[in-house]
Amino acid sequence: MKIAVLAGDGIGPEVTAEAVAVLEALRLPGMVLFEGDVGGAAYRRHGHPLPPETLEMAKASDAILFGAVGDPACDGLDRHLRPEQAILGLRKELGLFANLRPARMFNGLEGASALRPEVAATIDLLIVRELNGDVYFGEKGTRTLEDGRRQGWDMMSYAEDEVRRIAHVGFRAAKGRKGRLCSVDKANVLETSQLWRDVVIEVGADYPDVALSHMYVDNAAMQLVRDPGAFDVVLTGNLFGDILSDQASMCVGSIGLLASASLGAEQNQWGTRGLYEPIHGSAPDIAGQGKANPLAAILSAAMMLRHSFAMDAAADRIETAVARTLADGVFGADLGGNAGTSTIGQAMRDRL
Ligand code: IPM
Ligand code: MG
Repeated sequence: MKIAVLAGDGIGPEVTAEAVAVLEALRLPGMVLFEGDVGGAAYRRHGHPLPPETLEMAKASDAILFGAVGDPACDGLDRHLRPEQAILGLRKELGLFANLRPARMFNGLEGASALRPEVAATIDLLIVRELNGDVYFGEKGTRTLEDGRRQGWDMMSYAEDEVRRIAHVGFRAAKGRKGRLCSVDKANVLETSQLWRDVVIEVGADYPDVALSHMYVDNAAMQLVRDPGAFDVVLTGNLFGDILSDQASMCVGSIGLLASASLGAEQNQWGTRGLYEPIHGSAPDIAGQGKANPLAAILSAAMMLRHSFAMDAAADRIETAVARTLADGVFGADLGGNAGTSTIGQAMRDRL
């Protein structure tokens, strides 16, 4: 089981180290870890945020454990050299089109949510976000108009096959959960969204046992704080999924708790090849201070064991230990506590 560990920038290395420590504590036979440079750290060392050797390592691995990329010191670089291009490049180069972002309330954290505790307690949803298309990967540019004004532009588009394959992921996920799929778009304004909706309805014919609904993204943002318990699987495009998943994280208490899996069509010997990362970014404001919550990174490692290595029992053990750690009140500043990164990591391993 070859795992590429790409820790990246900011708090990426701190939280990834705790995730690796958890994997090591499990003593899984046959697991080999390789470390590679990515993001701003890679730019400084190799002149590129996703150097060829890192990409090769990622391609040769069975799974990738990813930290975070993003560094304000790189804001002035040409876009193709910015740290964020590393994660976008990996998603695209490896064909990782399906991003799973589960958000559920942990016992004991109801009070940490930005929502009322009784509302927060109902949250158990999965955002299925398309990851290889949309305005993220369309043509883009800046130009000067005839009258001298500068204009920035980004092309939004989805081809039907791109919608179809992510829709299948959403429907299958819903089948394995509560059987409800809510597709989120902006079909009242965008042609891209109208096609999205039409194709999702077509795919839905293959899944008669899944209850399909559609919601405009502005309404979805509202319902996510009004009645989040009504959602089971939320299927959406790249841009809307980016936004709604950050919003969902605050509904469960902290962005430091949300893990993600990015999957493609490729299989390894055990399961699906994938990239696993906490949804939080590099958080440069708290980097290097030992304050970051490592639980999203640790939960990402659990998702890796489940999806890429068919080790459901080990994944369950990690998730149970995280739930116990939180139930015991061990949490950091993001949740109103005072435990640091390594304290949380240790508490979590003690409970494994
Ligand atoms: C995420 C992040 C990335 C995204 C950035 C770092 C490019 O916000 O994974 O949600 O926009 O997809
Ligand atoms: Mg994001």
